[in-house]
Order: sequence, then C-alpha cells, then structure tokens
Amino acid sequence: MTQSHVHDVLVIGSGAAGLTVALRLPTTCRVALLSKADLNQGSTWWAQGGMAAVLHNRDTVDSHVADTLAAGAGLCRHEAVEFTVRNSRRCVEWLVDQGVDFDLRDAASGQIRREFHLTMEGGHSHRRIIHAADRTGRAISEVLTDKAAAAHNIEIFTHRVAVDLVVSEGRCQGAYILDQESGHVDLFQASAVVLATGGASKAYLYTSNPDGASGDGIAMAWRAGCRVANLEFNQFHPTCLYHPEAGSFLVTEAIRGEGGKLLLPNGEPFMRAFDDRGELAPRDVVARAIDHEMKRLGADCVFLDISHQSSDFLSSHFPTVMSRCMALGIDISAEPIPVVPAAHYTCGGILVDHYSRTDLPGLYAVGETSCTGLHGANRMASNSLLECVVYAESAASHIVRHLEQIPTLTPADAWDESQVTDSDEDVVISHNWDELRRFMWDYVGIVRTNKRLQRALHRVELLQAEIAEYYGNYKVSNDLLELRNLAMVAELMIRCAILRQESRGLHYTLDYPNKLPVARDTILQPQRPPA
Ligand code: FAD
Ligand code: SIN
Repeated sequence: MTQSHVHDVLVIGSGAAGLTVALRLPTTCRVALLSKADLNQGSTWWAQGGMAAVLHNRDTVDSHVADTLAAGAGLCRHEAVEFTVRNSRRCVEWLVDQGVDFDLRDAASGQIRREFHLTMEGGHSHRRIIHAADRTGRAISEVLTDKAAAAHNIEIFTHRVAVDLVVSEGRCQGAYILDQESGHVDLFQASAVVLATGGASKAYLYTSNPDGASGDGIAMAWRAGCRVANLEFNQFHPTCLYHPEAGSFLVTEAIRGEGGKLLLPNGEPFMRAFDDRGELAPRDVVARAIDHEMKRLGADCVFLDISHQSSDFLSSHFPTVMSRCMALGIDISAEPIPVVPAAHYTCGGILVDHYSRTDLPGLYAVGETSCTGLHGANRMASNSLLECVVYAESAASHIVRHLEQIPTLTPADAWDESQVTDSDEDVVISHNWDELRRFMWDYVGIVRTNKRLQRALHRVELLQAEIAEYYGNYKVSNDLLELRNLAMVAELMIRCAILRQESRGLHYTLDYPNKLPVARDTILQPQRPPA
C-alpha cells in the first residue's frame, strides 16, 4: 500500500545543508527530513579539511572574498561571495552552539584556549580553515544528526529516495518518494520543499564521493522546469589515494597546507613550474598540473610527501589519513603517499538566489545541489560546508516568513505503478552505469576537446533512450533512479561544456585554450518552464 504524508516543510537530504535547514526552522514547523540511505551517508560525513571562515583577527572579509573571487576565475557572483563570507563567523558560532567540537589552538599539547586552530588550503591567503582534525564533516554531521533526532518537530525518514517533485497550481507541493523497504512510492506533500541532495561526482569513474552523489536534486529540479547553471565546472580533487584497495579515499588538501610537497615518481617536486603558489595554487591548477605530468611520464600516480612533520603532529592533525594509509602499508611519517586526481565537487547546479529559491515557487535548493554563484568556475577549498550552512539559514528564514501566506495544498494523485513489472534485467542498469562513468571520465574530464564532448553527447543520448524505455516498463529501484538522474545530469554537464567556448577555471579545452574577456554563466533553460 502506498502512503501519503503531509508536513509544513519537506527537506530532501540529510547532509550539512539539509540538517541545517531542518534545525534552523522554528519548532512550530512540522518538518520531514529524508535521506536515501542512513542519515550520515552523504559527502558531508566524509569532509576532511574543514570549513573556511573569517575568524583570525588578522584575517578580513575582504581577503576571504578576494581569494574566493580569484579561485573562481572571474565567474563568481560578487554578491553571493560577500553574503557567504560576511555570514561565516555567525554560522561557525551557530555550529559551536549546537555542540560541534572544532580543534582549538594548542589542543595537541593539552593547553585549552578558546582560540580555534586554523589550517591552510589552496587559494587561501590566510590560515582560515576551522576543523576537527581531518574529520570535520563527521563532527558536524554527528552533532546535527543528534539534534535533529531529538527535535520533536522533525520527523526523520531514512532509506527513502525522492523520485520526482509534485508540481501543482504553479508551485512545488511535495515529492514522490520510494520507500526502499516496502518498494512502494509514497506521496509526501508540503508547503515548501528543500532539495539538499548533494552533488553529482558519481558521473565520473574515479571520485572522492560516496555512493549516492548522483545529482538527483539537479535532475528532479530540471524535470520540474527549473534552470541549472555552470555544470561544466566539475572539480577534480588533486589528491585521492592511489592504491588498489583504497576505494575512493581523499587525502586532504590541509596536508599541503601544512607543508606537504607533490613529487614526481623520481622524487622531483614539480608544482613551482606550473604556478608560483606551488602546492597551494587553486585546485584546478594543481589537478591539471598532475594530469599533465602523469600523461607526460606515463605515470600511474604522483606522490604527496608530508614526512618532514613528526609522527605526533600527523597523528593529531591527520588521524584519518594516517590510519587509512597505515592500514594499506603506507607510513606517511616516513614515505610519500601515492595520489591521483578524482572527481570531487559539482560547482554548478540548480540556479538559486540569496534565499536559495529556485525558479519554481515553493522549491528551494541548498548545498552542493545548488548554484548560488559563490564558486564561479572553481570552488575554493573548504568553501562548500560554509555555503551549506549559510544558505540553509537563509532558506529557513525565507520559508518561515512566507509559510503562512502559502495557499492550501491541492490534492495530488498517488503514484501509478499499475503499468510496470519487476525488472528481470538488472544487468542493463549496471552496464549503463559503468559505461556512463567511463565515457564521462575519458571525454569530459580534466582536459576536453570539442570532438570528445560531441562523442560524449552522442553516447549519453543513446543511454538516455535506453534508460527511458527501462524506466517506463519496470518498477523503480534506487539503482534505476540514480542511473536515470546521473544520465540526465551528465547530459546537462556536457551541454554546458559544449556551450563554453573558452578555457576558464575547471573547464579546460584544447580547442579554446584562452579565457574570453567577459565571464558569463552557462545557463540552461528546460523546455518545460515551471508549471
Ligand atoms: P551531502 O552531504 O552530500 O548530502 C546529500 C544528502 O541528500 C544525503 O543525505 C543523501 O542521502 C540525500 N539524497 C540525495 N539524493 C536523494 C534522493 N533522491 N532522495 C532522498 N535523499 C537524497 N567541503 C568543505 O567545505 N570542506 C571539506 O573539508 C570538504 N572535504 C570533502 C571531502 C570529501 C571526501 C568529499 C566527498 C567532499 C568534501 N567537501 C568538503 C565537499 C562537501 O563535503 C560537500 O560539498 C558538502 O558536504 C555537501 O553537503 P550537502 O548537504 O549539500 O550534501
Ligand atoms: C580537503 O580536505 O582537501 C577537501 C576540502 C574541500 O573539498 O573543500
């Protein structure tokens, strides 16, 4: 039996963005908080380095703004950058009030002072990354999850996958949600819906992201008629662990912030030949330099050396990286770490304003799924957790102010599954999933060409036709939904990349190696405008 639920606000996603929206809403507001796996299985939980904020008395808002604009290669929306950075201190204070235990200065030597330890990452001209060792995301996630579980106004639903949005009378009024346990698709109605579904880096064969980063929110918003922007800017993190048993494991940029050096297989440093900022150049520059050197030498990886730091320093600052490497036989205090670039962050997404409003009334998008204009053509390290909490607060404040004026919900149809059967061909899903991620890696990767992008577009259109047929005939499952969404978002990424006839930030193409004089967003408009 399918079920129906009614709440004031439906929050889809339980990472930093979704949890913060839910907790920022007043306790009088009935909130449904959904995640498609356990609550802590999004990217947030895995965040290592930290969260950028202006906290040091020698740092300034202007400096953080200037660094973000420089990393964004001329494409950031200035007001979005100012707005985010100005709110950074307040949002850190809110997290601390919730109970997040960020590292303090001298904590390692047992001296507790109420001054945060701030680390350094690429593109930043000051130490301004607040962190909890190298498991910052986990520290934030655990605290906010506990708070949400204790809040009597927040009803939590795990292992529920949003399939599509309910649009009626020109507004978003809810979503159809697959209950992975019962196999049924339920109707969730709400006066306001927040997409906080994370990014789409699973579009690539090699990624730092956990399963589930399949761009569901972007695909759902697009199907509902919302514009998306700047999806050609896929950030590749320069240093993911290269080891056959490592899976997707990130080696935090904060290691380079603490003096880590990138080395060729023969032990030679190489970053200074590419950029005066060396290892701390913005990520697009570092990832491209590594890609260039690996291709030039036919090398499987390069190396990251932090062995000049003591074992004590490394185990207090980087316990996660240290223990993961040690488990694979790499002692980071004595030898360099083999690393390669991997897809890490989706800079573009659903176009939103300061309040995280999308084109569709009643629908908000927060966190990695959105495109606020903060990141431009390349996100600066540790600006994304910040964006999640700043825009979550802003969305919540807008929802609260307008909730009373929202017209009553109109009755919506239940999900119709009378025409579909159980699939007997799951191999189609796994095959298409692999094919998609492989050609995205090969044709829409760190270095692009017109020919490769056209080839990718052709492949993705064929896949989409096959997926549409499958979707029309069989009952939905999480794997099918993710594949359908990923193929949709991959198409949008390719179309954005084809439209950008220049090289800027993360989009580098051999056919147009230079930057155009004027920076413009790539905005895609769906054929179907918001209903
Ligand atoms: P996520 O945390 O990814 O959460 C997405 C949520 O949406 C999940 O709960 C998921 O279950 C749910 N969801 C998705 N689709 C559906 C659906 N269809 N139905 C129901 N639920 C759905 N950023 C920094 O600023 N600093 C860092 O140090 C840092 N380190 C990182 C390290 C790693 C390894 C990774 C992968 C990322 C890192 N990032 C970092 C980026 C940052 O972690 C993410 O951008 C940010 O956490 C995204 O938060 P979010 O709330 O938007 O999405
Ligand atoms: C890292 O710790 O290197 C990730 C930081 C980020 O993605 O912002």
